[in-house]
Parts: sequence; C-alpha cells; structure tokens
Amino acid sequence: MIRELQLPGMFDPHVHLRGLDWSHKATFASETAAALAGGYWAVLDMPNTPPPTIDDPALDTKLAAITAEAVCDWGVYFGASQADNTAEYAAVTGRVCGLKIYNNATTGTLLIDDQTQRARHYAAWPPDRVIAVHAEGSTVLDILALVRQSGRRTHFCHISTAEEIGYLRAAKQEGLPVTVGVTPHHLFLTAEDVRSLGALGRMKPELKTAADQAVLWQAIDSGVVDVVESDHAPHTLAEKASENPPSGVPGLETTLPLLCTAVHEGRLTVDRLVELVALRPQAIFGKPPPPGTYTLVDLETSYLIARENLHTLCGWSPFEGQRVFGKVREVWIRGQRVFDGERVLVSPGFGHNLFAGMGTG
Ligand code: NCD
Ligand code: ZN
Ligand code: ZN
Repeated sequence: MIRELQLPGMFDPHVHLRGLDWSHKATFASETAAALAGGYWAVLDMPNTPPPTIDDPALDTKLAAITAEAVCDWGVYFGASQADNTAEYAAVTGRVCGLKIYNNATTGTLLIDDQTQRARHYAAWPPDRVIAVHAEGSTVLDILALVRQSGRRTHFCHISTAEEIGYLRAAKQEGLPVTVGVTPHHLFLTAEDVRSLGALGRMKPELKTAADQAVLWQAIDSGVVDVVESDHAPHTLAEKASENPPSGVPGLETTLPLLCTAVHEGRLTVDRLVELVALRPQAIFGKPPPPGTYTLVDLETSYLIARENLHTLCGWSPFEGQRVFGKVREVWIRGQRVFDGERVLVSPGFGHNLFAGMGTG
C-alpha cells in the first residue's frame, strides 16, 4: 500500500458554488475554499443559481463575482433557457466551459422538457464545445437522439441507474461522442439511507437501489464511467429541515476521501481513481493542469467525516460519521502551495478562469 499519493490537478466538472442571490446557502469564496480542502485544483460551476446564467449580463455578473472571490481555478457553464436564448451563444462561448441543459425537473428554473426546444439549443451551440446534460431514465435516449443528429460532444451528468448505464454503454459502442459522470452519493449511498438521512439524503437524481449502485461500480471498472463528479449542491440545514426541502447535497470535501477508502478496500485501483477525478475531466474540457499543480493525499490515516472540519458554508454532509481514508495534505496550483491540510493559503481572487479567451467560435 502506498502511503502518499500525488494527484495531477484534480478537476470537478459539476459543482453548484451558489453565491449571487443564493449567498445565504454558500459563496464563491467559501465553496472554492471547500474545493481546495477537497483536493481540487479546478471546478466548473453550474448556471442554475439565481439570477440564472442565461444571458450576457447575468454571465458578466457571475464572472465578476467569481473572479473576485475564487481561491481555486474555475470555469462556468452557460445555461440553455426555455425562452430561447440561443442568440446569446456567439457572444458568450469565449468565456464559458460549456452549455448546460436541464432536461428533467430539479433545483432552479431551467427545465426544458420539449424535444424541439432541446434540438434548437443543440444546433446553435458551437460544434467543438461541450454540452452537459441533466437527463434521467428515458430522457437519456431523447438526448442521445440529439447527439446522433448533431454530433455535439455531450457529458451526461450524475448518471445513477442500471438502465441509464445500459443506454450509455450502447451509445459508446456506437461511437457517439458521449462521456459519463457519476456522483459519490450514488456510489456510496442507496435509497435505504434516506430513512436515516431524511432530507439530507434528498437530491436529484434520487438515491437508487443497491442493484443500481452495483452497476455503477461495474461501469467504473469497465470504463463506461469517465468521471466522478461531486454535484456539490449546498443548501442550508434550515432549508433542509423545512416542509419542502430542496434537493442537493454538498460533496467537494468528501469525494476524494470516499474514493480513497474504496482504494483502501480494494474496490478501486489508484490508476482508475486518478483518471476519474483528474485525467478524464481534464481531457473532456481540454484543460491539462498548469506546471506545479498537484494534490498530496495521505492514503494511510483514517478519520471521521465531521461537520466541524468542513469548509463548505452549509456546514453539513450526508456522510457525517463515516470513517474514511484519504486525507488531503497539500494542494499546489501553478507552483504555489494553496492549502496546507487545514487552511487556505491564498487570497480571494487567486483562482483563474480556465476558459477566458476561448474565442467566440
Ligand atoms: C442541484 C442544485 O441544488 O442546484 N440539485 C441536486 O439535487 N443535484 C441541481 C442538479 O444538479 O440537478
Ligand atoms: Zn442535475
Ligand atoms: Zn448538479
């Protein structure tokens, strides 16, 4: 067993940092600090936080706020909106990491359930840039039809069932340009856990059966899964305790330890771990880490996940009380030590937009 692992530029392509009108849930400063504490070099922020990132002014507002606050490197998605916003695409593509389309109901106001509308967004987005989709169950097939038609590179977020894995395995065999993300909560929790977790175990897609979970792990082994993405989606404890609790759980600080624990238990190889949290997401978005960018993780020491050790502003985790291996010792970005295992060592604004100046393509 190796004691210390050096990971080359951990990259999470699916986080909700909040900020803006949802700064009571979390802020760009707090959640990029949580990203560093979780070992990450870079994170890609989703567009569903109000005001949603669906036009040029909203994008400018978000870019200004993250630029001022971020302590890790970052990118932001542009959101497809129901009121057709494809006319905005030419002006925004040079500043964003990709387009996000919400095809099933979830947090926010960006649901597009009309296939003709989805097709319009697919056709308008530049062919060389990524589209990330929230698609569950048979909606995966609807999106695959658009991929087949348009050839657009599509990342399927938070895939959670055996059925969906089946569709995507076939799509890869067919040669479609698709990639697959799964979350740590679907890998390490099941619907059974909702009994004890209550609203803290509620997210979209919902937790599934042990049989679905087993297929996700097989799909990691066989290479159908490309990425483990946290889908870090903080909500306050008060909101979670309310009558109508919102969906979503934080994950930035628990993803690496949970996966290191799987390595410790012999359920995952170190090589696969490095691909899932660093190499594959870097390749999908065409962003290798700059020189001097890596994370040192202690694989031997175990500890309990506890809310008092978390940096996320929401201050809780669905994994509290679990014993894990994989303690982040140091994070380095561009030759600078940015996290020492406990504290963030750089000021707000240190982080770069990895997708500034991508051209207007
Ligand atoms: C996300 C959120 O809260 O923004 N919630 C969730 O349950 N995953 C939205 C999403 O990723 O669908
Ligand atoms: Zn989603
Ligand atoms: Zn999400």
